[in-house]
Amino acid sequence: MSVRRLAPKELQPESFAFTEENLAWAKREITKYPPGRQASAAIAILWRAQEQNEGWVSEAAIRTVADMLDMPYIRMLEIATFYTMFQLQPVGKKAHVQVCGTTPCRLRGAGDIIEVCQSRIHHEPFHLSKDGNFSWEEVECLGACVNAPMVMIWKDTYEDLTKESFGKVLDGFASGNPPKPGPQNGRQFSAPITGPTTLKETT
Ligand code: FES
Repeated sequence: MSVRRLAPKELQPESFAFTEENLAWAKREITKYPPGRQASAAIAILWRAQEQNEGWVSEAAIRTVADMLDMPYIRMLEIATFYTMFQLQPVGKKAHVQVCGTTPCRLRGAGDIIEVCQSRIHHEPFHLSKDGNFSWEEVECLGACVNAPMVMIWKDTYEDLTKESFGKVLDGFASGNPPKPGPQNGRQFSAPITGPTTLKETT
């Protein structure tokens, strides 16, 4: 787990405000919880703030969400800095790649995926590519070990990757036509690549 700090002051916008549409959505979200339990909506609303703010949460966004939920700033800062789903500095405009580097993915080739990130995006994680369109980081298990190695980009997972297929995933995001999420080797979900091996009898 890397140290997670807010972006430096020079990258922080002065303020954050939800669009009218997102504000209406956030208000509806808050009503899902009983009075006094508004904080339960924290993650959902902070995530919407991240989506609106080009994929990362600024300090102003964190404070705005804390104010909406009547929470102390420190509590919202704890949430934002704890969960790796929240990005604390600007990320690639077209894709921020989260590469799972935990044991099952490592054993199945996560190192190759990281090499592609290093050569095509930037040698170091959390740095933007030259065109500002891509960034990457290594994260812990994303819960798709049966389809290792895998990455998450925004809300979707791309699984059963090789250097080549991951390259195609990046090409897709670069051209504005991301591939279908899920396994990239043609298998259905986590079914055997060779087809069914059990329960084949029809009688
Ligand atoms: S180890 Fe990579 S998804 Fe679980």
